[in-house]
Amino acid sequence: MPEFHVDTAPRGYSAIVEWGILQRAAEFIPPRTGKIFLVTTADVWQHQGQALERGLAGVCYERLDLPGGEDHKRLAPLEDLAEQMVARGGDRSSLILAFGGGIVNDMAGFLAAIFMRGIPVVQIPTTLLAQVDAAVGGKTGVNLVAGKNLLGAFHQPLAVLIDPAVLETLPEREYRAGIYEVIKCGIIRDGGLFHFLAEQRPAVLARDSEAVTRMIADSVRVKAEVVAADERESGLRRILNFGHTFGHALEAETVYTRFLHGEAVAFGMRAAVYLAQSTGYLSAEDSVEILGTIEDYGPIPSLSGIASENLLVRLPHDKKTMRGEIHFVLPVRIGETAIVSGVEQRLVSEAIRSALA
Ligand code: GLY
Repeated sequence: MPEFHVDTAPRGYSAIVEWGILQRAAEFIPPRTGKIFLVTTADVWQHQGQALERGLAGVCYERLDLPGGEDHKRLAPLEDLAEQMVARGGDRSSLILAFGGGIVNDMAGFLAAIFMRGIPVVQIPTTLLAQVDAAVGGKTGVNLVAGKNLLGAFHQPLAVLIDPAVLETLPEREYRAGIYEVIKCGIIRDGGLFHFLAEQRPAVLARDSEAVTRMIADSVRVKAEVVAADERESGLRRILNFGHTFGHALEAETVYTRFLHGEAVAFGMRAAVYLAQSTGYLSAEDSVEILGTIEDYGPIPSLSGIASENLLVRLPHDKKTMRGEIHFVLPVRIGETAIVSGVEQRLVSEAIRSALA
């Protein structure tokens, strides 16, 4: 089974893609760990908790539930959980097991980063999106009203345990939303992965085990390589934000309730492709291929009623904006991107309109 080493300055760790790894989760808890807190949501625990419960047989842990949902990805629930941790005897020897989708991974990771100035976390992602992106790379945080993930910290996990078996019961919409992050990985750095998705749609959508393993493993390899080269996002890591600048604007505009993150990224990738074509970075042929593949894994929920001007106004609030200048990650061919700034507002506006159409 594929295992990837994520080599960062604070910590090197493994992201392991293994069917059934939940059943041996206890092996990843270091000796002499103090109180263990399993942070999840009631929903995740109800649907997917059994396998992890078996994997933690004999381990003493306390379960703490987050509310779930992007609109609850705020600081207040973390303060509440931190109070509970202290009340239940948590201290600097404690450890968090983050068990859930991207929101849980981000929030529980952030809680680990700030509880008593930092305790370890093991990430156990339960959605495709979290397995291929959120749980790997140490980005943690919560949203502000002003924008997504504006409060956060880099906090690398002890390990990432990726069990593709949990995807068997994942709702179809969540599964497809995760595929968009896989498509992203293909476009930014792995043309082979992109073409695999374009050509193997029936197997991917049928959740064929080989197809699922391949797309997770390739995406985690891409992520591990990029994070190892640039943990703090001062250079290469920015390519992982392909589609996210426009996507975050869409999520904020719809108050985090209308689109799943992956669906917003699909919209954002479309806008970025239109922009890449109109600015001359991407050929018409590659644009058609990318847009067609995004479409094939859709549809995303209706974009009706969303004003392009509102999205345009929101773009500068993304945290990728530096000194007032928006940086766009644009594909130059399938498997390669460029970071571009100084783009004419008229072209950005046109790209948003085309993506909304
Ligand atoms: N999700 C983008 C990153 O980890 O950098």
